[in-house]
Amino acid sequence: MPFNPFEKMKFNSNLIHWYTIYKRNLPWRQSQDPYSVWLSEIILQQTQIKQGLPYYMAFIEKYPTVFDLAQANETEVLKLWQGLGYYSRARNLHFTAKLIAFQNNGVFPNSYKELMKLKGVGDYTASAIASICFDEAVAVLDGNVFRVLARYFGIDTPINSTEGVKQFKALAQTLIPNQNIGDYNQAIMEFGALQCKPKSPKCEQCPLQNNCNAYATATVKLLPVKLKKITVQKRYYNFMVIVSKDQTTLLEKRTQNGIWKNLYQFPLIESKTSISKEELQNLPVFKSFYPDLEFDIHLHNSTDIIHKLSHRELHIKFWILKHNGVLNNGINFSEINQFPVPVVLERFIERFDP
Ligand code: ADE
Ligand code: SF4
Repeated sequence: MPFNPFEKMKFNSNLIHWYTIYKRNLPWRQSQDPYSVWLSEIILQQTQIKQGLPYYMAFIEKYPTVFDLAQANETEVLKLWQGLGYYSRARNLHFTAKLIAFQNNGVFPNSYKELMKLKGVGDYTASAIASICFDEAVAVLDGNVFRVLARYFGIDTPINSTEGVKQFKALAQTLIPNQNIGDYNQAIMEFGALQCKPKSPKCEQCPLQNNCNAYATATVKLLPVKLKKITVQKRYYNFMVIVSKDQTTLLEKRTQNGIWKNLYQFPLIESKTSISKEELQNLPVFKSFYPDLEFDIHLHNSTDIIHKLSHRELHIKFWILKHNGVLNNGINFSEINQFPVPVVLERFIERFDP
């Protein structure tokens, strides 16, 4: 990692200085009591401080100690949690409270390693509690920390890749100061939440600006890098297979860009979901589809044919539209194989007997 002890000192002291001035006065910051720190950190997972704070206040008022929480019934705890989401967090919270109260005399484990054994406590929460309550030298890594480090040190390894997590963890750990670990960890998180914000970081009034790599290289907007999850999009394709009295049909050429560009297909009507015959007939696009022709319609495949592409899943229906007349530009079914068509259509054509 391209930095020396002097740079580390600058980074830390600027950060801590900023924190002493700008830190929010949060109730769990008043003490190093593991119960309140644990409670706040569990509530704040996947939740912003602004939204989580009222819940923390309600919990600490109703259950001032781990014994009070342990003695509550689960329904009551879930009720108080209502609206925060991720309800397994509340169930784990209650489970762990009972364990601490009834098997540990109310005493929390005092090291990262032992804290990790608690249900609902992962790397982040264990590091937070161990550093804040017991001054253990373990770095926290949450979304805020990833962002601050990625920008300040100009690291473009994706933060949600295995390699990225390893790299950022190592860096975060080397930045840990010799004392006041808990304050340092909270300072970097707070800095990410209030100063080096995701959308509009306040670079112009930033105490780290002088040494910030992203600022110097104008890459603040590009960092941190996150790998996009490929979401498979479902599309519903209805092919209109017209069959005229003289065994002809209509094809159209796909002109839009895409993997099927310039291939031919039966006229396509896309729908938002998998639709019935009535729903098809009620679609405005269907109503304007050869409005002067009469059709007798039936569905060829009773279950959708599913065609998987890298980022799409096509749900395909072939609708047979019998027309008791002749078509102007009809193509005879025996000639269809002269046209390039997507494989799914080819399979249909091979089997279809008009
Ligand atoms: N986000 C979650 N816990 C935090 C803490 N203790 N300080 C700053 N930001 C946080
Ligand atoms: Fe973050 Fe901007 Fe400060 Fe760099 S200069 S640490 S990007 S707020």
